[in-house]
Amino acid sequence: MGEKDLLVLSIESSCDETSCAIVKNGREVLSNIIATQIEIHKRYGGVVPEIASRNHIDAISNVVNEALEKAGVSIEDIDLISATYGPGLVGALLVGLSTAKAMAWATKKPFLGVHHIEGHIAANYITHKDLEPPYICLVVSGGHSNLVYVKDYTEFEILGRTRDDAVGEAFDKVARVVGLGYPGGPKIDKMAKEGSPTYKLPKTFFEDSLDFSFSGIKTAVINLVHKEGDYINVPDLCASFEDAITDVLLSNLLKACEMKNTNKIALAGGVSANSYLRNALDKMGEENNLKIYYPELVYCTDNAAMIGSAAYFDHMAGKSSNLDLNAVPYLKLGDKLRK
Ligand code: KG4
Ligand code: ZN
Repeated sequence: MGEKDLLVLSIESSCDETSCAIVKNGREVLSNIIATQIEIHKRYGGVVPEIASRNHIDAISNVVNEALEKAGVSIEDIDLISATYGPGLVGALLVGLSTAKAMAWATKKPFLGVHHIEGHIAANYITHKDLEPPYICLVVSGGHSNLVYVKDYTEFEILGRTRDDAVGEAFDKVARVVGLGYPGGPKIDKMAKEGSPTYKLPKTFFEDSLDFSFSGIKTAVINLVHKEGDYINVPDLCASFEDAITDVLLSNLLKACEMKNTNKIALAGGVSANSYLRNALDKMGEENNLKIYYPELVYCTDNAAMIGSAAYFDHMAGKSSNLDLNAVPYLKLGDKLRK
């Protein structure tokens, strides 16, 4: 290791993945262990917060030990300990955050609380060693849909946000109503490949705003399913849903590029794994001479490596957190509760 190398141990537990990673200099992942609870929550059709917290508690020690072991380092080698402190489920967040704070206290190492969405954005730095701000980032996850101007590694300007459902939430609800189960995104992705966008669904745009609204599309799908019953063509409906969502996302994304006079775009969050969205964005990129960045699939959905990357850049910008930092379930992007 070089003399100035910075090793971060990071923890992510905001929803249903318990994860710990060791990340070097913000871009190199030495280990990234993810214990997912998907199988546990599947039977309830969605994440049950209390069950998520209990499972995080069961998993956290092993996940941390495994991350250190796989990276071939010991806790003494670590320079900075970090964890997601919001947004997310409060009981779930507290497990990872308390573990990180306790480790920082016991080892007297610096501690940094990381914003989950800033983590999703930072996932791109792991996959693309050459990516530097400024650029536009479209963050599309289960809980968030934001169009963000990333001015610098730790400076964000929100250009648009959803006024109702997050994109991933709409995917999950539509999947449930057509009987595909949880989590809906990957299942709709697969099913849509068998169909084509033949159903006409509403698309919401706002005048003078890059905000999003997905409840209209979602409700239209639900109404169609109820109206057509068994006659519904599920693959075509999935393709139509993806097509409508993608059109809205990409139109606003292009407007954001024009507004900020940039041709650099990054995608982030669980829904950035969606193949229809990626193909459409690649096409838009070619037509408009845009440079597009995606995180590798493993860094699209929740993971601790992205938190370790964001923590590194925060640390380099001189930021740190106190050990009394609490979990903030409704933390907004741009809100800082740090020292
Ligand atoms: O980023 P993430 O892991 O958690 C949050 O921070 O919310 O995102 C999870 C969301 C879920 O709604 C899931 O259905 C969606 O990402 N998702 C996808 C795909 N893979 C995951 N949505 C569409 N297509 C996919 N391939
Ligand atoms: Zn997430």
